[in-house]
Amino acid sequence: MTAPRHSELFALLDITGEDTAQCAALLDSPAGPGVVRAMAALRKRLGTFPSGNAKAEDTTELDWIETLLRFAPEVREFHSAHGIAPDLTAAILADMGLQLRINRRVHGAFGLDTWGWLTLHMAGNMFRLGRLQYHLIREAGAKTWDQGAGGRWTLGVHIPEDGGLSPALVDESLAMAKEFFARFFPDKPVAAATCDSWMLDPYLAAKLPESNIASFARRFTVERCTDEPTDAVYFTFRQRGLADLDKLPRETSLQRVVLERIDDGGSWQVGHGRLSL
Ligand SMILES: CC(C)(COP(=O)(O)OP(=O)(O)OC[C@H]1O[C@@H](n2cnc3c(N)ncnc32)[C@H](O)[C@@H]1OP(=O)(O)O)[C@@H](O)C(=O)NCCC(=O)NCCS
Repeated sequence: MTAPRHSELFALLDITGEDTAQCAALLDSPAGPGVVRAMAALRKRLGTFPSGNAKAEDTTELDWIETLLRFAPEVREFHSAHGIAPDLTAAILADMGLQLRINRRVHGAFGLDTWGWLTLHMAGNMFRLGRLQYHLIREAGAKTWDQGAGGRWTLGVHIPEDGGLSPALVDESLAMAKEFFARFFPDKPVAAATCDSWMLDPYLAAKLPESNIASFARRFTVERCTDEPTDAVYFTFRQRGLADLDKLPRETSLQRVVLERIDDGGSWQVGHGRLSL
């Protein structure tokens, strides 16, 4: 049974099913030195705008799960102090429960191989607005005087797994983002959004031109592509690596396109795209 004192936290993080017992066990044991170090790393970043994952010496995946659980209330307080509505805090932190469920599908066990991704949420500058998640960051490389000493501000766009990605949902979410960031971060004007994703590999839009994925990708100008052979397989099949591809289903058009390209000796890429807001 889940201890009642954790149920509010688990609701905030959308932690469900078998994951509740394992998360409760972590919270009910004293925090070890790895957790203490990881908590300190997250505390240092709260309210800053990091674009990379948090790091701490000698920490395990379990340490990070425990740390994310223990730190989430601090993010909630931080958001609240800045006038962010509780439902928006819950919307972004719910990614924790989703990622734990995805981990079970990928590895068949409790764990969080994407813990590094979740550390970004804990800095307090990532929000889910409608269908998409937005990460407010300062772009590296933009150092001209009129862009400010630290570079231009941009929104990194992320697509959580949560049903279809219709153009109407994307339109609605982008409109929400424009309004939200202008209101809560008026001193950090954003004129562009960026997306680094397997979904922006031009091969995909060429093969499935009518798909929601292609419609999403067409919104962006793809500035460059980099080899990332496993991402398309991971996000389509929730499998890490390229072993035993012949055992994977070929039921949807996406599944077929992903596997046929590899069958033909091709390699999937990540497209790095930009869109004006
Ligand atoms: C991105 C996503 C929401 C798109 O879903 P969608 O709106 O249903 O996609 P589309 O309408 O473009 O799908 C086109 C086809 O691909 C299939 N498809 C889409 N996503 C699929 C997935 N993850 N697994 C298997 N098939 C998928 C659809 O069923 C459809 O098949 P059909 O032509 O045989 O009917 C979905 O792929 C997803 O949840 N992906 C995981 C999250 C992700 O990749 N994020 C980006 C990380 S960088």
